[in-house]
Amino acid sequence: MIFESASDVVLDDIFLRLPDFVPDIDVLLKLEGLNPAGSVKLKTAVALVESAEAHGTLRPGGRLIESSSGNLGVALSVVCAARGYRLTVVTDPNAARQAIRVMESLGTHVVEVTHRDTHGGYLRTRLDHIRQCLVREPELVWLNQYANRANVAAHRERTAKSLHRELGDIDALFVGAGTTGTLMGCVEYFAEHSPRTRVIAVDAAGSVTFGGAAAPRFIPGLGTSRRPEIFVDGGTFEKVLVEESDTIGMCRTVAARYGLLIGGSTGTVLAAVRRLAPALPPGCRVAAISPDLGDKYTDTVYSDTWVAERYTRTPDLADLGHATAR
Ligand SMILES: Cc1ncc(COP(=O)(O)O)c(C=O)c1O
Repeated sequence: MIFESASDVVLDDIFLRLPDFVPDIDVLLKLEGLNPAGSVKLKTAVALVESAEAHGTLRPGGRLIESSSGNLGVALSVVCAARGYRLTVVTDPNAARQAIRVMESLGTHVVEVTHRDTHGGYLRTRLDHIRQCLVREPELVWLNQYANRANVAAHRERTAKSLHRELGDIDALFVGAGTTGTLMGCVEYFAEHSPRTRVIAVDAAGSVTFGGAAAPRFIPGLGTSRRPEIFVDGGTFEKVLVEESDTIGMCRTVAARYGLLIGGSTGTVLAAVRRLAPALPPGCRVAAISPDLGDKYTDTVYSDTWVAERYTRTPDLADLGHATAR
């Protein structure tokens, strides 16, 4: 198979079965980390850039700015390098160090804000920084993934569509919520094409997206300290919050049991599957979206020192048969 651009290399039909993950339930993990940007955000990045091009706000040689805790920044770096745009990514101390180095290696200018906002996170600080830059340099184009409908459309037309094409009318779909682009795209697609599929939205405890109280969080990917504009809760999906220590326990369990080093948000989504799927009828088929893999989390989620410094609770390891996780 020959692709014409790095950002075209999106493998949307790769699933991993997780035997014994929940007794009598067929659990399939949609692997989104197997592309040149290493995450689901490659599809978001392509859609955001193509939407700006189509609207004429982004012209050849243009300059872009975006807020990202890592993966969108890497994905936009891939797209911008291939299309000749200059990119500034505004990030924060929770971003994986390796992601920042990757962005810089692809030619992106990375700015890190360090002040927590009034909700204890960094999102508002990042957005304030972008607004200041736009006032100083009005020619900058801000893609604004939290408010841009192209983000939702990308996942409705690609992620959700390919899930449905490959797996059919599944019984339940578990999707993590960051900007909620993936979630909203799946909610819209499945409501239209497979209304019997229960969509379960998963977020980190301490995120405000579902209306809960803000609290400090340390794992990038899911969660917000400010509700995304594209998030619409029409009552058609369920919502689950997962503690970060449960996320860590799940990541380590899956690595040891299945040989798959998953990223933090995948651990969060799978912790929700373990919590809810036992209530589903035996023989059900369930899918969960894995936004990225775990290689960039070896110094955080998979580091005992990092975990001990941040959490009072020791992560519990799920019993999944022959797991030998630490
Ligand atoms: C690792 C990871 N998981 C989950 C998400 C959430 O995806 P979305 O922004 O579509 O809600 C992101 C988004 O950046 C991510 O990087």
